[in-house]
Amino acid sequence: MTYETIELESHGRVALVRLNRPQALNALNALLISELDCALAGFAADEGVGCVVITGSEKAFAAGADIKEMADKSFADAFLSDFIGRWDTLARFRKPTIAAVAGFALGGGCELAMMCDFIIAADTAQFGQPEIKLGVIPGAGGTQRLTRAVGKAKAMDLVLTGRMMGAEEAERAGLVARVVPAADLLSEALKAGAAVAAMSLPAALMAKEAVNAAFETTLTEGVRFERRLFYSLFATEDQKEGMAAFVEKRKAGFRHR
Ligand code: CAA
Repeated sequence: MTYETIELESHGRVALVRLNRPQALNALNALLISELDCALAGFAADEGVGCVVITGSEKAFAAGADIKEMADKSFADAFLSDFIGRWDTLARFRKPTIAAVAGFALGGGCELAMMCDFIIAADTAQFGQPEIKLGVIPGAGGTQRLTRAVGKAKAMDLVLTGRMMGAEEAERAGLVARVVPAADLLSEALKAGAAVAAMSLPAALMAKEAVNAAFETTLTEGVRFERRLFYSLFATEDQKEGMAAFVEKRKAGFRHR
């Protein structure tokens, strides 16, 4: 399948998605979101994919939802079409995802990165939720995911002033897992992706589900949920292999089942 606004590459068990609308700093229009959804559906069904890395260009991960496409929408257009609702596919995607961010990750671009499981940032990355400058507010989870990631003080600062935050500040604040030199971004992200994709896939899916549950539930319920998942992994071939490999002092060869 060929796409107009994204490019796909396969790196072993890692699927790489490059957002590719350079003329608009990878602004996220309806076509890009539907192509991303379509690619994700393919990765979900593909047993050979164990992790997805999403990246943009050197200049921009994505500069937000496409303002030119949105500008003339009425309330009824926006509400009835629920056009942002379609972005949720990435947030609901079950396999691990990594955002590799260089340059601008603004508005919907920051929100898309935050829908991934973790963010690796180039030292050139700039994060922000500048929607307030357009007379609106974040609409793809920015007020919620940013606040959970960095806390109220910094989230309010970013959402109310619309200012940008550099990679180091973003790492200090807890938005970003690692900062790397821009030249190494893709290789570092693919290396992290390969490490994740080499793990047992059932364990990786459950690890992701359990961490995400921490944002939705109480500690007692979350710990109970984690324990159920933990015990259930003893039904997998990969648990037998992983523990046998440790005892036999060899590298585990997971079958991802
Ligand atoms: N939508 C549509 N087009 C965009 C865009 C966007 N979000 N961001 C940049 N572009 C386009 C520009 O219009 C320009 O196109 P033309 O050459 O045809 O004019 C091209 O990309 C290059 O942009 P600039 O000339 O502005 O580049 P710059 O380096 O001077 O500035 C920037 C870069 C600071 C990122 C600036 O482009 C900018 O502020 N972009 C908008 C950022 C923004 O407000 N994002 C939030 C969008 S709303 C949203 O995302 C809602 C939501 O929560 C879902």
